[in-house]
Amino acid sequence: MTKLLLRALAGETLSTPPIWMMRQAGRYLPEYRATRAQAGDFLSLCYNPDLAAEVTLQPIRRYGFDAAILFADILLIPQALGADLWFVTGEGPRLSTVTSAADLARLRPADQIDERLAPVYETLAILSRELPRETALIGFAGAPWTVATYMVAGRGTRDQGPAHRLKDEDRETFSALIAMITEATIHYLSRQIEAGAEVVKLFDSWAGSLKGRDFDDFALAPARRIIAALKERHPDIPVIAFPREAGERYIGFAKATGADCVALDNSVEAEWAARAVQVDGCVQGNLDPRHMVTGGPDLVREAQRITRALRGGPHVFNLGHGITPDADPDNVTRMIDAVRSA
Ligand code: CP3
Repeated sequence: MTKLLLRALAGETLSTPPIWMMRQAGRYLPEYRATRAQAGDFLSLCYNPDLAAEVTLQPIRRYGFDAAILFADILLIPQALGADLWFVTGEGPRLSTVTSAADLARLRPADQIDERLAPVYETLAILSRELPRETALIGFAGAPWTVATYMVAGRGTRDQGPAHRLKDEDRETFSALIAMITEATIHYLSRQIEAGAEVVKLFDSWAGSLKGRDFDDFALAPARRIIAALKERHPDIPVIAFPREAGERYIGFAKATGADCVALDNSVEAEWAARAVQVDGCVQGNLDPRHMVTGGPDLVREAQRITRALRGGPHVFNLGHGITPDADPDNVTRMIDAVRSA
């Protein structure tokens, strides 16, 4: 029996799509909040293999999702490269910044990141032993552009202004930073696969702010390079690419990058994606995470509309972005029932 997620990613059209949720291990779950309190803080949780495996398993036990996603964060890569990283409660991440060739030169080479990241590989090893037989294990990394936006600004930004300014004013330094993150990501994801990840996902959360040639150079090209390198080493491991808010640039993204599946955010219509994107292969998505807060008949109607719109081809049901801390855990059960009865 092949796992449902792997069948969809291999291009099979299924009568019921596999289901998982971005941020499925998170603050909306009381059991997550308890384990996080036990760990002390978010980064301590990421670097504690037993507790990180425990929070990864919590939503699997509660809901029986078809996939578990490694509990970690996209910002562990900058930290492994030598940036300082901390999280301010209620505000988000803070990092030491990289804005010049001199800052870049101080970072660690991409092949020396494992000392810091070893606990992440250990989390995957635990999970590949402990997950139910039918549950697929997903590893992940941030895509270079999204990771670079945090490294340049030193924090999350609404419009990714600092990264755009460095890109426009000193393209050479910015390109060198992207190249460095790209190489580190290839190394990191290869190690995740060797530790037990059966699928990997590239999160390009800020891809939507890149236009024209910038999208080609900093969203498309790095994804293509990462996927080509992974396919060379691990040809059987499927890759999900998530160029969030790429809009029209979702068209052809899978073909241009070699991704096995493109994850759709909730700003695109599933009916449009069926015609424009799913013609090239598997798509993932794309319920608005707001429904997990509001619930009710709208949640059921929207989950079923998306399931039916994408039923004609390979589809992985998911939200269009992460579930939020104010979501009602019971709405997750309602969503799963709605998808399976659509
Ligand atoms: O999906 C999953 O459950 C797997 C684990 C995961 C986390 N972050 C855990 C997390 C994944 C895949 C990520 C990806 C991530 N991290 C992205 C890309 C996806 C996206 O959401 O757009 C980004 C941009 C980050 C960076 C990041 N991490 C920010 C901006 C924040 C703070 C915002 C917030 O929600 O508090 C985080 C923290 C974070 N990462 C949490 C979790 C569960 C919340 C931490 C906590 O427990 O307080």
